[in-house]
Amino acid sequence: MPLIKIYPKITHIILIMKFLHSGKVKDVYELGDGNLLFRFSDRVSAYDVKFKDNISRKGEVLCKFAEFWFNQLSVPNHFVCLEGKDKMIVKKMRMIPIECIVRGYFYGSLIQRWQEGKTLLAENVDTRMAAKLPEPIFDPTTKSATHDLPISKEQVLNQNLVTEEEYEWLEKTTIEIYKKMSSITNSAGYILADLKLEFGKHNGDMLLGDSIGPDEYRLWPKDSYEVGRVQEAYDKQLLRDWLTENGYQKQFEDDRKAGKELIAPSIPIELREKMSMRYIESYQRITGNTL
Ligand SMILES: Nc1ncnc2c1ncn2[C@@H]1O[C@H](COP(=O)(O)OP(=O)(O)O)[C@@H](O)[C@H]1O
Ligand SMILES: [Mg+2]
Repeated sequence: MPLIKIYPKITHIILIMKFLHSGKVKDVYELGDGNLLFRFSDRVSAYDVKFKDNISRKGEVLCKFAEFWFNQLSVPNHFVCLEGKDKMIVKKMRMIPIECIVRGYFYGSLIQRWQEGKTLLAENVDTRMAAKLPEPIFDPTTKSATHDLPISKEQVLNQNLVTEEEYEWLEKTTIEIYKKMSSITNSAGYILADLKLEFGKHNGDMLLGDSIGPDEYRLWPKDSYEVGRVQEAYDKQLLRDWLTENGYQKQFEDDRKAGKELIAPSIPIELREKMSMRYIESYQRITGNTL
């Protein structure tokens, strides 16, 4: 069906769409026909903190990356069509209330959880920072508006979030998608360290939903990858590292524990420009398309 004809211009959409939700990055609108419109903004967040400064063209990159991945993956998904450079129409679904995370490398919050004895790993796992895991692991979290927490299979099943059969399908499918995406990023010179996916139900079918792009994964350039240290920062990781180096990450943790409001520092213009370039560069290298 030529949906694009129903919504030929954003001015038309405004007339028939209802604002639903403004997330960290996306603004979500409901269209009158059972579909949603995602508008990808240039907003940026890290460590669950929203920043006031924008990263120019980030929304466009995220939107086109999502389109690229939905087209590459054979798993049924909610994508309908693009609507302009930073907007996408998707089928409205009932979302599965877990974030499906897969990790291919020993990195990020997994290290801290393992050090604190909260996560058990097999004997043969190399626990040097950024070492490749023998096999990718499925490591889901809760889906929270503020701070997602790891959740075990038992907890997922006890809370009736999904059935056991669905859990097993989500685990298998998330890992398969990670492997497929890894092989594509690998050919473009990047390691896909980890990935977050969301699924939902549409007319009884389980579909891949939400968006897939740099906010959903960590990419490391292969040529500077080295086990045992922090990896060269790509796109959002640049901001995370700047926050850590300047003490803001610790400040956020302390303020969160103390129940204080978290205050985002302003991001220096040079860092914003560098981030913008990196978003564009990774898109062009991985997809082979220009923006
Ligand atoms: N097809 C869909 N139908 C309904 N809700 C969806 C669909 N795809 C994604 N969502 C939900 O839309 C919301 C997007 O908002 P949010 O995650 O807060 O935005 P952001 O990713 O910008 O932070 C999420 O709760 C996500 O689960
Ligand atoms: Mg989200």
